Amino acid sequence: MTTRKIIMDCDPGHDDAIAIILAAARPELEILAITTVSGNAEIEKTTMNALKVCDLVSRPDVMVSKGASEPLIRIRETAPGIHGDSGLDGPELPEPSRSWSEEHGADTIIRLVKESKEPVTLLPTGPLTNIALALTKAPEIKDNIEEIVLMGGGTFGNWTPTAEFNIWADPEAAKKVFDSGMPIVVMGLDITHQALATKEVIDQVNKIDNHVAKIVGELLVFFASTYKEMFDFDGAPVHDVLTVAYCVAPELFKTKDVNVTVETKGEFTAGTTLIDLHGVTGRPVNAKFGLELDVEGFWKLMIEALKKY
Ligand code: BDR
Ligand code: CA
Repeated sequence: MTTRKIIMDCDPGHDDAIAIILAAARPELEILAITTVSGNAEIEKTTMNALKVCDLVSRPDVMVSKGASEPLIRIRETAPGIHGDSGLDGPELPEPSRSWSEEHGADTIIRLVKESKEPVTLLPTGPLTNIALALTKAPEIKDNIEEIVLMGGGTFGNWTPTAEFNIWADPEAAKKVFDSGMPIVVMGLDITHQALATKEVIDQVNKIDNHVAKIVGELLVFFASTYKEMFDFDGAPVHDVLTVAYCVAPELFKTKDVNVTVETKGEFTAGTTLIDLHGVTGRPVNAKFGLELDVEGFWKLMIEALKKY
């Protein structure tokens, strides 16, 4: 079997954690590294959470590099209202068995992409700071990146009326990535809100008799509670997991080729992604935008993966 080499750039985060758990269960994916970014919580916390999740899935061999602690130019903001103070509130996870690597996350991305014999796919599921730093420092890595499958943006917002959290947290970085000319797949709120971990989904997860599934159940219960409180949703959308699912089962996704650009200057709209669904701007296509998810197929994939643990 040929494996697809991926780097997961993330801010765990409940859905980032579940994305790692799905990726680690799939034999066709080779996780070259996990690089972390400040987002859902401060960088030390998201990095510790990534290390804990690696231990949970018995993958202490996966390199974890701590990346950017601040957005490119803006003040850092985190999301404790959604993910709790630790960034991963809910389950009790033991202290990690090791520390993070000495190398900065952006440098890890650069080095591993350069070293890889086959093109690497980047899966950013937090603010795009590390990716922007890597592309700025070593633009030549573009030649060995297969595609960037990211979670961010959408035609509506969840942090401001028009902006989604990951893009809003570092709009300048996001703009740099969308303007890079790289092939990009966008899992925005339009499609990630279709992947709602409802009570029925949580019941299915809880029926699986292994420790990883038990922790995922607890993550989903906590995540659902904050989504109920903040957005009155019946379940939490597992946004970031869609990036991994797309890599292993693209047939579950309906996408549209569009131009996406990022507002960096608006008085009220900074961090908004402008998704040109109808081609009205005349700007060239730079992304595949996720429109529709085969919801049943997606949860089947997730449940099957959890049963493997
Ligand atoms: C995104 O923000 C974070 O809360 C999640 O981890 C996801 O990456 C959704 O807007
Ligand atoms: Ca995230």
